[in-house]
Amino acid sequence: MPYMTPITDLIARRTSVRAYTTQLIEPDKAARLNAFLASPPAGPFGTPMRFTLVTAKAGDAEALKGLGTYGQIKHPAGFIIGAMAATNTPEDFGYVMEQIILLATDLGLGTCWLGGSFQQSRFAEKMAVTPEETAPAAISIGYPAERLRFRDHLIAFIAKPRQRVPWDQIFFYDTFAAPLSQAQAGTYATAFEMVRIAPSANNKQPWRLVMAADQRTVHFYVQRAPFYAKQVNAGKMADLQRMDLGIAMCHFELTARESGLAGQWQAADPGLTPTPPATEYVASWMPS
Ligand SMILES: Cc1cc2nc3c(=O)[nH]c(=O)nc-3n(C[C@H](O)[C@H](O)[C@H](O)COP(=O)(O)O)c2cc1C
Repeated sequence: MPYMTPITDLIARRTSVRAYTTQLIEPDKAARLNAFLASPPAGPFGTPMRFTLVTAKAGDAEALKGLGTYGQIKHPAGFIIGAMAATNTPEDFGYVMEQIILLATDLGLGTCWLGGSFQQSRFAEKMAVTPEETAPAAISIGYPAERLRFRDHLIAFIAKPRQRVPWDQIFFYDTFAAPLSQAQAGTYATAFEMVRIAPSANNKQPWRLVMAADQRTVHFYVQRAPFYAKQVNAGKMADLQRMDLGIAMCHFELTARESGLAGQWQAADPGLTPTPPATEYVASWMPS
């Protein structure tokens, strides 16, 4: 693990930062980030991916408009952009980019996820995205500007950050009919909580988790919001909600491992019926 701070502290500390000071990222911190980007961890589905840290140039923040992103980003010191093989596994991108965000958080930097469609943009040019790749999201990065925070509050009002749905609406036990209690979650309770407070596009929190009756296996599902389902079906936007699932998988796995709970991701769809509307199986955490 590249982190100096417990993962649960980093996850709790992270928040979307949209306004930055003009301070640049110091060379030693850039070097730490670049070392991680040079050999990123593999995602659960093994999709080839690459990431680059670029210094922000004049006009970059404005150029975000029209790429499917929302909110205004002020004075970012830089961006981390990523490209992945154009496979149907956006979870991998969310899983790895979130680990990058947690490293930036550990270094005292602020970040904000920017999801959309970057392959036709000046950002993708900076990393020469090929026709075989997609560039489904980027992050802005820099030092948080305390005095410019009112913009964050505006977005806070629109996207309701830190407002999260309660356990009983997203975590279930054995079937989708029974909410999961913290007592049933047992040693996994903190890992579930770290999923609950994760960032997601428009704060939709599309993750639905079902803990199996063995109280160790956890099945992950995505519950699609109508807006994103339409955008994805029309080919207008990357599948941001499955990227959100990758973020949830990252938080769950890193927290479980830090608590000494080993396991791995597997395709083990339990075929639960009924499944709530617009809900699809993604993957399962299988303890080892
Ligand atoms: C995949 C993804 C895409 C996002 N895209 C944007 C974006 O384009 N613009 C923006 O301001 N915030 C974006 N966000 C940040 C979310 O709005 C934010 O995570 C959510 O509202 C929760 O707030 P918090 O991150 O402060 O906890 C995105 C988050 C994710 C995970």
